[in-house]
Amino acid sequence: MKSLALLSFLLLISAPASAFANDFSGCIVCHNSMAGRIIYNGKEIALKVDADRYQASTHGFFSCTECHERFGENPHAAPAEVISSDIEKLSKRIKQKADTDAVALAACYKCHTETYNQVLGSIHGKNIADKKLSDGALCLDCHGSPHYITPASDRSSPVNQWNVVETCGKCHGKEGLAKKYGIEVNVMKSYTESFHGKKHILGHKKAPTCVNCHGYHNIKSTDNPSSPVFGINKIQTCGKCHKGANEKFVAAITHKEAGPIPHYAEKGLILLTMSVIAFTVLHVLLEAFSDIRDTFFRRRKEEDEDEESEQHIP
Ligand code: HEC
Ligand code: HEC
Ligand code: HEC
Ligand code: HEC
Ligand code: HEC
Ligand code: HEC
Ligand code: HEC
Repeated sequence: MKSLALLSFLLLISAPASAFANDFSGCIVCHNSMAGRIIYNGKEIALKVDADRYQASTHGFFSCTECHERFGENPHAAPAEVISSDIEKLSKRIKQKADTDAVALAACYKCHTETYNQVLGSIHGKNIADKKLSDGALCLDCHGSPHYITPASDRSSPVNQWNVVETCGKCHGKEGLAKKYGIEVNVMKSYTESFHGKKHILGHKKAPTCVNCHGYHNIKSTDNPSSPVFGINKIQTCGKCHKGANEKFVAAITHKEAGPIPHYAEKGLILLTMSVIAFTVLHVLLEAFSDIRDTFFRRRKEEDEDEESEQHIP
């Protein structure tokens, strides 16, 4: 079996693309030519898997059944193949997150075991595997379609530096979700209005996105002492970019709205500056006016007075 896999791998890398497609147990021949969407267990799914994009992706070398372990042979063999017990168990823990094939969604575990364990231990994974809900993020919520995954450095990857804020925002920008989980601040709004967010939008490469402060596979609740943004941990987190960050400095950044006092203090300061400018301008104008008056009117008056006094010399 092992040697067979090796043989087909060798064939795969030496064969031209068209022959390559046939080696995918034919799955892709059918699925590449399918255009439609179908309703499957109440959810709308797309059956098309684009052969070119698939082969250009990170996993393009793998046969479909590497993840779709349930489907032994073509087209969809039933009953299922024997699935290893850890994948079987995991697929049951996350099944409410899958549209069609929970086994495929669990199969990432085979090759990305450590990452998967981190995600399961994160606030997102616990939401799914422990609370049995489907609001939390699993692999595909952040990485996009399982068939077209590319490295994060690829500009089109949803976790690329320039897309990741939007990817987190798919969920964290939803008001209902924040309310449901007692998140009182609008984190997307406060980020985009923050100094960091503005710099990021302007294309500053070193400005932090969500993941520079929160991490990604192991994101923790912000009141969990192991969160990188919990209390004193911030010194290290901010310190990655701000050398010499201390406790006072790291208190400067938060998603929370500035309280009413700083707000009015800021408005007050603006008002004060504006009145000072207005006063200065007015002062200069008045000064100029009095100069003009002095030069033209007063001189004339003085001349008149001089004439008058000359006439009255006794
Ligand atoms: C003869 C054409 C054909 C071949 C070959 C084929 N499929 Fe499908 N596939 C379909 C059709 C039609 C559907 C629509 C729903 C159904 O009938 O199950 C489908 C649905 C699916 C689904 C979603 C629904 C489900 O049952 O989970 C997956 C996943 C899937 N196929 C994977 C595969 C894999 C993996 C292979 C290769 C082992 C493969 N298909 C080979 C025609 C095909
Ligand atoms: C890296 C793992 C992986 C590989 C390789 C893979 N798939 Fe999938 N596929 C998945 C996952 C995960 C899902 C989504 C399961 C879910 O949400 O229920 C999926 C879903 C599907 C679906 C259903 C569409 C949908 O929206 O749920 C079809 C059809 C499908 N795959 C066909 C294929 C074919 C054909 C190949 C080979 C060309 C292939 N897959 C290779 C992981 C993979
Ligand atoms: C059969 C093994 C295998 C399976 C199953 C598998 N992967 Fe991968 N994956 C790999 C390999 C190999 C790489 C390339 C590693 C590298 O370049 O560092 C990779 C890379 C990745 C990358 C990083 C992209 C890159 O190139 O930097 C992501 C993201 C990823 N996989 C997600 C998934 C997800 C999600 C699943 C499940 C739907 C999955 N993988 C299933 C083997 C697998
Ligand atoms: C909350 C979003 C999120 C979830 C959920 C998520 N990832 Fe990632 N993943 C990322 C980000 C962000 C990166 C790194 C981007 C970068 O390098 O800048 C990444 C990178 C990766 C990499 C490349 C190696 C590395 O660690 O940097 C692999 C492999 C990977 N993810 C696999 C997975 C698998 C498998 C799952 C599901 C068990 C998963 N990811 C779930 C956001 C996520
Ligand atoms: C699929 C939706 C989804 C995506 C995508 C997502 N999240 Fe979340 N996130 C949630 C949900 C739901 C919770 C609350 C889970 C719970 O409490 O059970 C949460 C919780 C969090 C928390 C903890 C909040 C607290 O209460 O302290 C942080 C931090 C977080 N997410 C950051 C991120 C970041 C950063 C990204 C992008 C890399 C991201 N999330 C992507 C759904 C998502
Ligand atoms: C400069 C670091 C930094 C960046 C960038 C950042 N955060 Fe935060 N985040 C924090 C800190 C610190 C907290 C702790 C609570 C607070 O001060 O608001 C937090 C709290 C949170 C919470 C919990 C809020 C609550 O009230 O429970 C969520 C959710 C969250 N962040 C998501 C995000 C998302 C999504 C992004 C990207 C759009 C992001 N964060 C960008 C530092 C950051
Ligand atoms: C990924 C790197 C990175 C991280 C992490 C980071 N920052 Fe920044 N920060 C920047 C950059 C870049 C600027 C803009 C510098 C400039 O253009 O002058 C900036 C600017 C600032 C500013 C305004 C200008 C200044 O230097 O006084 C403050 C305040 C600040 N950051 C606080 C924080 C705090 C607090 C944290 C941790 C919660 C943090 N930063 C985390 C990169 C980062």
